[in-house]
Amino acid sequence: MRSGIQGLDEAMGGLPDRGIVIVAGGPGIGKTVMAAQFVYNGAVMFGEKGVYASFSESKEEFYGSMLTLGMDFNELERRGMFRFLSLMVSDKNSFTRCIDEILESLAATKARRVVFDSINATTSLMDDVEARRFIQLLRVMMKNAGVVCFLIYETSNEVKSEELGPVAFMADAVLLLKWRDEENFKVRELEILKARGLPVEKGFYEFDVDRKHGGVWVITPPKTIPGRGGEVLSTGMEWLDAAIGGGLRRGSLTLIKGETGAGKTCLCAQLAAGMSSTGRLCVYVSTEEGEDVAWLIKGFGLNAEDVDARIKTVSIVPEEHSVQRIYSFFDSILCGEKPDLLVIDSLTPFRRSVQQERFYKLLRFLQLLARANGVVVVATFSLSLIEEAMETDMLGLFDNLLILRNIPTNGAPHKLLFPVKVRGSDHRKTPIRLEVTGRGMKPVSEESLMPAT
Ligand SMILES: Nc1ncnc2c1ncn2[C@@H]1O[C@H](COP(=O)(O)OP(=O)(O)O)[C@@H](O)[C@H]1O
Ligand SMILES: [Mg+2]
Repeated sequence: MRSGIQGLDEAMGGLPDRGIVIVAGGPGIGKTVMAAQFVYNGAVMFGEKGVYASFSESKEEFYGSMLTLGMDFNELERRGMFRFLSLMVSDKNSFTRCIDEILESLAATKARRVVFDSINATTSLMDDVEARRFIQLLRVMMKNAGVVCFLIYETSNEVKSEELGPVAFMADAVLLLKWRDEENFKVRELEILKARGLPVEKGFYEFDVDRKHGGVWVITPPKTIPGRGGEVLSTGMEWLDAAIGGGLRRGSLTLIKGETGAGKTCLCAQLAAGMSSTGRLCVYVSTEEGEDVAWLIKGFGLNAEDVDARIKTVSIVPEEHSVQRIYSFFDSILCGEKPDLLVIDSLTPFRRSVQQERFYKLLRFLQLLARANGVVVVATFSLSLIEEAMETDMLGLFDNLLILRNIPTNGAPHKLLFPVKVRGSDHRKTPIRLEVTGRGMKPVSEESLMPAT
């Protein structure tokens, strides 16, 4: 069975076809959201009916908070796809009655998915032996009913399998959701402790909760969109195309490095303008000083309507977000806007706000996102930092490397653009001397080009 939760099915190799999945974790980590998505997606994506048995929330509370994430349970209920049960457990007898009610609902609705949120009220009334027997019995009941049951456990923030006691052994799959402190942020982590009968590639994943992803999403390598392979897209600038072998390849990651004022933003803006003039869609992400790039681009003489229609400018302050949120930010831009070009100007603040290892992972994620979505990703980085921060292996993640330099002159400022590396192309190996004009940077002239190095 599939949960329909982004990344979770890939991480787990799918859910068991029937039986019990334990979801354990601390308050606010996302257990209820994840379980709600399991039922909601089941109905919306796979036409499977569901029942949500809550021992802690009222129907109004549950429907209201899930609606903020885009899940409309009222609608599902109206369509006869869903039933919410608000139950109370005070002693063992009342729990038996609750189980009966749940089983009746499952039979009446022919549900395939059910959630118990949470099971603590019940198991707290039992000792280990009873709890074990109870879960075993429940598992048999769920298998007989032909359903997958999410059993939610409220635990500490850094839940370990021992905290679940013997019940972990009885379940078909066990997911531990944990909070981890990282630098200035609390981040969410999923441990797949067990997935009976299913291959689990790796045990630990980062995950997050946000509206853009309709709730929980597990950060896994992005999936490839077919048909957006390695086509080379023109930059819209003849001289640049000529220097780099025709343009930039879909799915490639390009780094433009250079000192402050070397023209990185100007070149990126020209790139966005140039590609949009060939009908491509661009998203321009600014991370520094809130430069008005849209204004800059319009100065290049493009039709303002085209700029508005094809270039979207977004800004983000990396220091204010955890790495997970940054992943989410880029993932939702690429999946939502489906641009041909993504400019990130600049990566420098990302490097400043996270440790080197984290930064490396972020680049790796961007690389996978670029490949998967067939997007041309162009990022800038300032030179002073790059020398200490970007080791060769980091540079190795970039398909293309362009270096920009200021060259001192008496008159108008000149720049040099040096195509150091352009993967898969017989690119120019010598620097291009550029002059800055009102319409962006342009090669000075063929005669004044620097000699080969
Ligand atoms: N609309 C929303 N937008 C972004 N995040 C949300 C939204 N609604 C809930 N969340 C996140 O989900 C968390 C609640 O998760 P929940 O599943 O209720 O936790 P629990 O594990 O206690 O069941 C909140 O702390 C919040 O971080
Ligand atoms: Mg909850």
